[in-house]
Amino acid sequence: MMIELRLGAIVLFCGLFSSTIGAFIGINIGTDISNLPSATDIIRILKTHQISHVRLFDSDAHMLSALSNTGIEVMVGVTNEEVLGIGESPSAAATWINKNVAAYMPGTNITAIAVGSEVLSSIPNAAPVLVPAMNNLYKALVATNLNYLVKVSTPQSMGLIPRPFPPSTATFNTTWNSTIFQILRFLRNTNSFYMLNAYPYYEYVKSNGIFPIEYALFQPLSSVKQIVDPNTLFRYNSMFDALVDATYNSIAALKFSKIPVVVTETGWPWFGGANEPYATVENAETFNNNLIRRVSNDSGPPSQPDMPINTYIYELFNEDRRPGPVSERNWGVLFSNGTAVYSISLSNSDGRGANSSTVFCIAKPGADERSLRSGLNWACGPGQANCRAIQQGQPCYLPDTWQNHASYAYNDYYQKMHSSGGTCDFDGTAMTTAIDPSHGSCRFTGSLNSSTRGLFSPPAFGPVGPSSRSSRNYIYLHQIVSLSAVILALILV
Ligand SMILES: *[C@@H]1O[C@H](CO)[C@@H](O)[C@H](O)[C@H]1NC(C)=O
Ligand SMILES: *[C@@H]1O[C@H](CO)[C@@H](O)[C@H](O)[C@H]1NC(C)=O
Ligand SMILES: *[C@@H]1O[C@H](CO)[C@@H](O)[C@H](O)[C@H]1NC(C)=O
Ligand SMILES: *[C@@H]1O[C@H](CO)[C@@H](O)[C@H](O)[C@H]1NC(C)=O
Ligand SMILES: *[C@@H]1O[C@H](CO)[C@@H](O)[C@H](O)[C@H]1NC(C)=O
Ligand SMILES: *[C@@H]1O[C@H](CO)[C@@H](O)[C@H](O)[C@H]1NC(C)=O
Ligand SMILES: *[C@@H]1O[C@H](CO)[C@@H](O)[C@H](O)[C@H]1NC(C)=O
Repeated sequence: MMIELRLGAIVLFCGLFSSTIGAFIGINIGTDISNLPSATDIIRILKTHQISHVRLFDSDAHMLSALSNTGIEVMVGVTNEEVLGIGESPSAAATWINKNVAAYMPGTNITAIAVGSEVLSSIPNAAPVLVPAMNNLYKALVATNLNYLVKVSTPQSMGLIPRPFPPSTATFNTTWNSTIFQILRFLRNTNSFYMLNAYPYYEYVKSNGIFPIEYALFQPLSSVKQIVDPNTLFRYNSMFDALVDATYNSIAALKFSKIPVVVTETGWPWFGGANEPYATVENAETFNNNLIRRVSNDSGPPSQPDMPINTYIYELFNEDRRPGPVSERNWGVLFSNGTAVYSISLSNSDGRGANSSTVFCIAKPGADERSLRSGLNWACGPGQANCRAIQQGQPCYLPDTWQNHASYAYNDYYQKMHSSGGTCDFDGTAMTTAIDPSHGSCRFTGSLNSSTRGLFSPPAFGPVGPSSRSSRNYIYLHQIVSLSAVILALILV
């Protein structure tokens, strides 16, 4: 109750988290891939994983069309190449909005425009046109009456904050004072949010062993390795929280408040070159699953406990055509054929109805009607599910859809049979989920997860450990890094 009231107040304040109680997890979709799936296939993959929020780096017409009527919220991107023209010309901005935003709304739910990608650190010469570009786009949204639905902002890298630790003393690099001041004023005046790309992976690698890897991976810190900000005495359980707080404090240092921080990119590569030893499947799996759990608990970082940290994972697919070190091509949580690289559940990503220990079996969203019909017939017939509740007049009859009826029957079958080997498959039309599909007086029975691990089926927020690999990490750290709280405190000061 308290939480709902608090979040209600935030909704009034900034209008950003309007329909969502709690934080969401979204995903970035980079397309520098040799076998890029078609837009339709990408949507199918998104639905299979119940992904609710995506960020595109551009405004690809196929993707924007395919995303219509999916219920997925979309952040579109103005590419760095486009920023200059839009910054110099209001009419170029109007054309961009008409072609890439207005043309698809409301069918495609575009809720934000990311102007450029890390413009200040990657193309600093374009800094003078960045805020004009944001302004021109905003005015074009006003002209098409979309400014209340679509926010304009610009993703910046952590590189703008030279010393993020301890968070309480973090400030933006003063070189960018005036540009960042203008960005923040724009964000405040338009009720928008600060877009942050924050990578504990890079901060950890850069820190040369100063921080324990557990800190970067959201794992528990032993009592001698607690990380405390010496000025505020806030305890930081994760580097992710510290980076977000460093950003809030840098914003506050320029005398702005109430501008929410949304993490537009974070993630961990699962494979790297010989000189990239931390890019492993274990670390990536641990980081991303713990990240989802962290964000889904809806709390903010220590300095802003009431601000949920909406976050987009980088990224959906491995982008095999990206230049740079090996890890650069291995940030994806999926291969381009849709197979998961490691066990991860992106579903239930806004945290509603999350229950880490309970599993339901439902019909896959988007599964075709014919297969659902035969699945349903099988479950209620040979499968011996109790299908009474979905008969007309019974509590689970409505909504009268194949999706709903099959979900009920699949779940009933699965809960009864799964201890004796029954699976949640139904010819590929079923999936497990941690979201309780119950509605009104229609109750779905859940069960404790005791299934074997499958790439597509782990429920969202189950504990990641205790696995043998995390204990190995611990032993490893104890052996070679012996950090005391004193040393850390010194480093932090
Ligand atoms: C689009 O997303 C916003 C923000 O979550 C939500 O309020 C709105 O209902 C969505 N619109 C549609 C058409 O789904
Ligand atoms: C601030 O940014 C400028 C320009 O990119 C750079 O030369 C300088 O080293 C940065 N300062 C710090 C403290 O990182
Ligand atoms: C940037 O802002 C800070 C804090 O307001 C101030 O101390 C500093 O002198 C400014 N630097 C520049 C280069 O304007
Ligand atoms: C949510 O996460 C924060 C930050 O890690 C932590 O301090 C807090 O205890 C968590 N709350 C719950 C209910 O797990
Ligand atoms: C998908 O691609 C990966 C990597 O190329 C491969 O290992 C896997 O077997 C493929 N899965 C399917 C179902 O084709
Ligand atoms: C999770 O589900 C179990 C069984 O339905 C219930 O007892 C428990 O309270 C739920 N936990 C949360 C956090 O909702
Ligand atoms: C179920 O629990 C097992 C361990 O008992 C775990 O490995 C797996 O990821 C869980 N699966 C789901 C669907 O959560």
